[in-house]
Amino acid sequence: MMPQEEARKLDRFIQLLLANATVFVSGEKLAEALKVSRMTICNWVHHLQKQEMVIEIKPKIGYRLTQVPDLLLPQLIRRELRTKVLGKSLYHYFQVESTNDVAHQLAQQGVAEGGLIVAEEQTQGRGRLGRDWYSERRVGIYLSLILRPILKPRHATIINLAAAVAVSQAIESTCSLSTDIKWPNDVLVNNKKCSGILTEMSADLDQIKYMIVGIGINVNHQSFPKSLQGRASSLFLEGGRRFSRIEIILALLRCFEDLYLELQKQGNDAILERWIRRSSFARGKEVSVDLGDKKIHGTTIGLGKEGTLRVKLSGGQIEDIMSGDVVIWDSVK
Ligand code: BTN
Repeated sequence: MMPQEEARKLDRFIQLLLANATVFVSGEKLAEALKVSRMTICNWVHHLQKQEMVIEIKPKIGYRLTQVPDLLLPQLIRRELRTKVLGKSLYHYFQVESTNDVAHQLAQQGVAEGGLIVAEEQTQGRGRLGRDWYSERRVGIYLSLILRPILKPRHATIINLAAAVAVSQAIESTCSLSTDIKWPNDVLVNNKKCSGILTEMSADLDQIKYMIVGIGINVNHQSFPKSLQGRASSLFLEGGRRFSRIEIILALLRCFEDLYLELQKQGNDAILERWIRRSSFARGKEVSVDLGDKKIHGTTIGLGKEGTLRVKLSGGQIEDIMSGDVVIWDSVK
């Protein structure tokens, strides 16, 4: 993996190539502008050619970019970005271990609220409850957002739910597919998981310092490893065609920003209502929930004020679940 500083310079290099896409730019000029050696420029060109960017090389004259593949380049995202905060600072990587890890580093370095990290591939994508997240190159969306909400740590679940509503809205509006949300934040299409969210935070006892909302969406995956088959799917597999990752990201940022602002102005209720409207798991679903130390079985009866899942057990007691793995009861029988 490339160190962060070099990845930033590589991004500026692409920006220069894109800005000069019709002409040849000399290696010397590029090297000077980016304060790197001509050898580095030459290495970057080969690196980008491996990513299927078509760059013409004319000895003694320079380089010209003639074709850009489907990449999540900041220059392409920024052109259509209509948000005020989310994505205003944008970091693109070809390969990272996990965008959440990069986001933690950037947040600790002081990157402001709304910072967005996107990657074409993750080598150690992380999921909830210690699982891995399958992150195949260039077919999925792997992104993390840095948020700095003025919230107590115990109230953070609502951000999770807001993110799931935003993913669900973004998929429905850009792909015309119906979605469901499995508590807290798995987005399903045809009952198969197409998106997951891993929210992490750094906090003092009574104040969140920053939150990282890591979102993975399986967009154009054509297949999955055996271990995921039957459970995971992609928008391509469910919708029967390829979708633009950039369009989905743009819609997601817009929806999430609206919900995040609404949350700050009006509190939790509006988010809870929207989540409930979008989820068949909210009420009347017979589920089994793995709480880590025990498993419970009951019927969902709505959400608590902070976004907890309320489950009525067969004996009549009500459990307010803050964290756990929910499975439809039918599928465990
Ligand atoms: C889940 O288990 O459902 C959550 C999956 C979250 C995956 C995303 S991909 C971008 C970000 N970086 C990670 O390592 N994980 C999250």
